[in-house]
Amino acid sequence: MPSLLAGDFGHLETSAKKAEAAGGDALHIDIMDGVFVPNLSMGPDVVRMARRAVKIPLNVHLMMVRPDLYAEIFIKAGADTLLIQVESACDIFGTLKRIRELGAKPGIVLNPETPPEAVLSCLDEADEILCMTVHPGFGGQSFMPEVLPKIRALRKTTKAKDIAVDGGIDLKNVTLVAEAGANAIVAGSSLFKAKDMAADLRLMREKAEAVIAAKRQ
Ligand code: DX5
Ligand code: ZN
Repeated sequence: MPSLLAGDFGHLETSAKKAEAAGGDALHIDIMDGVFVPNLSMGPDVVRMARRAVKIPLNVHLMMVRPDLYAEIFIKAGADTLLIQVESACDIFGTLKRIRELGAKPGIVLNPETPPEAVLSCLDEADEILCMTVHPGFGGQSFMPEVLPKIRALRKTTKAKDIAVDGGIDLKNVTLVAEAGANAIVAGSSLFKAKDMAADLRLMREKAEAVIAAKRQ
């Protein structure tokens, strides 16, 4: 799924529509509070705009110290999935539960250095587990292959959940993350910088699906 952070900040609505028209099955939107990560990005108004602009689900990633204080605001703004970082300073289990009660799918995110054990106690509450494959805060960074063993470990623990990856994913490394067990891909720069976003997105999906199908056999 394309990440809006790599879109054109002068024309975010056009970028959201471009991601949908290219075949994105969801739109990833990064929210940063300037404390959890050393950067600021977008707020609920951008989520509201995206909700009006596209029909695909909105996958909203909160890089915030206190995501619990903002969950309701982002769900009301139109988030379909709301992802919180396990390193956040809040009651993780309670916040995931609350996200579901508020009508959205809860997701849990792990920073590159966070071990898989950190999410074991809240796996039942999360529909999506997202492994950061860069240090969060900025788009356009290089993929960190050292995260691959964690993806493998989480896939062993949970056969049914969506395991997503986020950060530095492109046509060269998508096979690696799919082989490790990821079945959902967030890609910002590689897709928005592509000459033909639809063609690259199709290729990325084909590569991931080929690995997933081979594993099923
Ligand atoms: C990074 C964000 C990512 C970012 C990915 O903090 O969480 O979602 O948009 O962008 P690329 O694909 O450019 O690394
Ligand atoms: Zn993200």
